Amino acid sequence: MGGIKLIGFEENKTIKTQKERGKAKKNPFNDESWQSANRISLDLTYLFDTPDDSLSITLEDIEEITPEAIKAHKMLEKDQGDIYDNGIPMTGWQNLPGEITQEHLEEIKSTARSLSSQIDVFVSLGIGGSYLGIESTFKALTHTYFNQLSRKERGDAPEIYFLGQNMDPDYFRDTLDMLKGKGIGINVISKSGTTTETAIAFRILRNLMEKNWGQDAKNLIYATTDAEKGALKKLSTDQGYKTFPIPNNIGGRYSILTDVGLFCLAMANIDIEEFAAGFKYMRNITMSDDLWKNPSLLHAAARHAAWMKGKKIEVVATNSASLYGVARWMEQLFPESEGHFGHGMWVSPSLYSEKLHANGQMVQQGERNILETFIMLKKHDNRVNIPQDKDNLDGLNFVPDKGRDMNSINRIVVEGPAYAHYLGDVPNMIIEIPRRNAFNLGEIYYMMERSVAVSGYLLGHNPFIQPGVEDYKKAMFALLGKPGFEEKGKEIKDKISKMKRIRIN
Ligand code: PA5
Repeated sequence: MGGIKLIGFEENKTIKTQKERGKAKKNPFNDESWQSANRISLDLTYLFDTPDDSLSITLEDIEEITPEAIKAHKMLEKDQGDIYDNGIPMTGWQNLPGEITQEHLEEIKSTARSLSSQIDVFVSLGIGGSYLGIESTFKALTHTYFNQLSRKERGDAPEIYFLGQNMDPDYFRDTLDMLKGKGIGINVISKSGTTTETAIAFRILRNLMEKNWGQDAKNLIYATTDAEKGALKKLSTDQGYKTFPIPNNIGGRYSILTDVGLFCLAMANIDIEEFAAGFKYMRNITMSDDLWKNPSLLHAAARHAAWMKGKKIEVVATNSASLYGVARWMEQLFPESEGHFGHGMWVSPSLYSEKLHANGQMVQQGERNILETFIMLKKHDNRVNIPQDKDNLDGLNFVPDKGRDMNSINRIVVEGPAYAHYLGDVPNMIIEIPRRNAFNLGEIYYMMERSVAVSGYLLGHNPFIQPGVEDYKKAMFALLGKPGFEEKGKEIKDKISKMKRIRIN
């Protein structure tokens, strides 16, 4: 029979873009009309006045919050308020878009090019803020099956994998199989330099690389960590690994525009200048202290109003499998920043239509404690037509008859639920992303970073620390018997041993 041919389908545009990226073809991201065509928008039509008055968010709610939101915005601009971690104001991300130099970006690109030419596979090691933004951007801007494409189709980029974000031995072992027989390069990312999952993944890979290539392995190992302190910094200095510094005034989940993200994105040939330009564009927009002209401020006020009205869950739903990672990134950014003192909304990332056949029931008719935020991709890379069928047994000929393709149905996957959920007393907002490009990603990241920062002020606590996450890290050290944590380990084990076990087989 022979293999299947994709009759009637054009070349995949994502692959085309990847190939062009490899040849350094650029989007005109400094051009004003290109920028405004690529500006993301925030639509609050279905946020206000849902049918049940006792649950609904009103414009008056926003008006009530506005003075506090503007005050928060002004304090943030001046680096004032509860923003310190160990005495350092953690707002370095705020002006970073305007501070990044062309020279720095060139340096990152040149390092990436040099590593890329020596390897088949690149592995990025990290967890939380040292992982999610990178994977989210990578997935948003590359082919779904990137690693299965040829090197040419990847625009001459190596295959890219992620490790250190969990401690699942089968996942780890399966990933090693993907590396077998190939030349690999790695970047281990950890600001603290002591995060267990990342450190263990690094140890295993380093050990393997050294067994294979001895002293030469060190030229293929990069570390992104604190500029001065921490175990990873010391190890890198001792072993002679090239390091990228993470600024001490930028926390993990705010770090995607630092070298944390830039190096790996450059390894995938993603245009990091365009990415930085997207951040800068949104930085300029969000300077406004007019709430209705500042999407971060409005977004923060809308979410705060929802929270005050008893919304405890935020479903972040997208119509794009490529942008699902952005929803996952938001799942980290918001709860890790807002989840203090009993505050905050649980963020549930969802890919629609898939999740409409699961949580969709709950969203429509479950407890009315849900806010929904759509991350809607306006223009996908590809169009998929739906063919006529001579028997029409599935009754779907009306779809092509009406000139609809999969893309137009995809849009209805947002428009339909947005309206139905609104009628079901789930207020929702739509953030429209024009294209899958680095500029748009930069814009949404900056908009969200700023929104959650303002949210911290509105909630009355520091959004730049994560003592709860640090607690779990310490509990792990203690239970693992890490030197220095023996006492704590004994105490925890003692307490656990005294608990009544309740278990059935
Ligand atoms: O946002 C944060 O601070 C966290 O999610 C961290 O990024 C995460 O815990 C990883 O920490 P580190 O980079 O120190 O290994």
